Amino acid sequence: MPRHNARLRSTAFDATMFPMTEVAFQRCIAASCSARYGIEEVLFSCPKCGSLLDVHYDWDRAEVPGSLATFASRWATCGRSTEARADYSGVWRFRELLPFAPLEKLVTLGEGRTTLQQADSLATTIGMKSKSLFLQYEGFNPSGSFKDNGMAAAFTVARLLGKRRVACASTGNTSASMALFSRHARSNDGIPLEAIVFVGGGKIAFGKLAQALDFGAKTLQIEGDFDTCMKLVRDAAQALDLYLMNSVNPFRLEGQKTIMYRVLEGLDWQVPDWIVVPGGNLGNTSAFGKAFVELNYLGLVDRIPRIVIVNAAGANTFCTLVNEHGLRWNDGQWDRPCVDDYQCRMNKANYEAHTVASAIEIGRPVNLTKALRTLDAMDGIVRQVTDNEILDAKALVGAHGYGCEPASAASVAGLRLLLKEKVISPSDRVVCILTGHALKDASTTVDYHCAKTSVGCFVNAPIQCPTNIDAIAKTLNAGDRR
Ligand code: F0G
Repeated sequence: MPRHNARLRSTAFDATMFPMTEVAFQRCIAASCSARYGIEEVLFSCPKCGSLLDVHYDWDRAEVPGSLATFASRWATCGRSTEARADYSGVWRFRELLPFAPLEKLVTLGEGRTTLQQADSLATTIGMKSKSLFLQYEGFNPSGSFKDNGMAAAFTVARLLGKRRVACASTGNTSASMALFSRHARSNDGIPLEAIVFVGGGKIAFGKLAQALDFGAKTLQIEGDFDTCMKLVRDAAQALDLYLMNSVNPFRLEGQKTIMYRVLEGLDWQVPDWIVVPGGNLGNTSAFGKAFVELNYLGLVDRIPRIVIVNAAGANTFCTLVNEHGLRWNDGQWDRPCVDDYQCRMNKANYEAHTVASAIEIGRPVNLTKALRTLDAMDGIVRQVTDNEILDAKALVGAHGYGCEPASAASVAGLRLLLKEKVISPSDRVVCILTGHALKDASTTVDYHCAKTSVGCFVNAPIQCPTNIDAIAKTLNAGDRR
């Protein structure tokens, strides 16, 4: 049942107490457990049953505006006051929808000021009607990816907890974002937090590695892939009191919910038909489902869009488990033996994911079960696309004046596939999430256009040209090469 007109009660800051709002707590997602924990408890899985945790709110005691349009009025705010800085943030502008920390404690770098782009020429090129396709370009964030939405939220908690060291495993963007925020989110005695990143040797695009190094992160290159790094950083976090910033940290996902709020804002608060998102560790997938379930519960939207999660074919665990093994949320009682058996078989076979979209080169997505919940809530579907399809989609996005890194383009490749399958119709209103900036992985782009990675359909190779005007004129008159 939707509810309205609730009230927020926040506690005053007290250095001896964790100054969180009283309305928030952590809760295990498994229906058979549902254990509750305080939000000051540092937990990345349920101590009772091992399942993932949510940040949950007692909405009856929260103060939520009666209409989403209220949030838009904050967009134009600038200034140095605490409130103005929160209003300027595309995350904290929506603070009443993630009410776990008091205003004066919010960490922000001006993240989330991203807007929805109406991509008409791209739409018609891929067979959609004009005004049907929208791109949410999260590459416009301070570190160049959607991760900044989550980091604003997770760093707020790290600071409240008095943590000095933060850590993550990463395919690149998490580390870049965490490293950037660590330079700004100082501890109470004014010292920047120490950032420690675990990356798979040779597995990270240079643009992202460059950011982690430049922002001073202690960068550990681990022999192995992302999945190895993820396991290692979880153990290290526990053993060495590092605060974990991967998307198993439920506060990260609270920040990432705001991507959906901005999508709605870009559509004048109309709900689209489809959200299409690349699936890696499945944090976005999980956050988007939670965002819509909460908005619906609060009576702020009257329907929930469908979602498409797009895996790379070389990293298709979620797609396989859902489409071939029939894995479902099942009211919070998912088939645990099915997941465990599959992981066991992957381990026995020494399975490693492989895709040109290095950001989603993940075989063991940590948010798998939350993503099942999203599929259920958003009547979702899962697809996989090949590396060539990803690279072609990326080139198309670029050719139409947007730009994104390979993993992001999986969303557009997935859309093209579903148009072909006639699951999505040309006049449906579709939002593809472009998760990271085009310059994050420039070498893959250059390799594509120089035909080093594959024979792409939209190659725009540089042309060798002699140093005289006649030759240049001849080349220019040779016609359009596309
Ligand atoms: N797109 C980009 C550009 C990413 O960097 C990631 C994840 C994803 C999509 C997948 O998102 O995990 O929410 O399903 N990158 C992580 C990292 C894993 O370490 O930077 P997800």
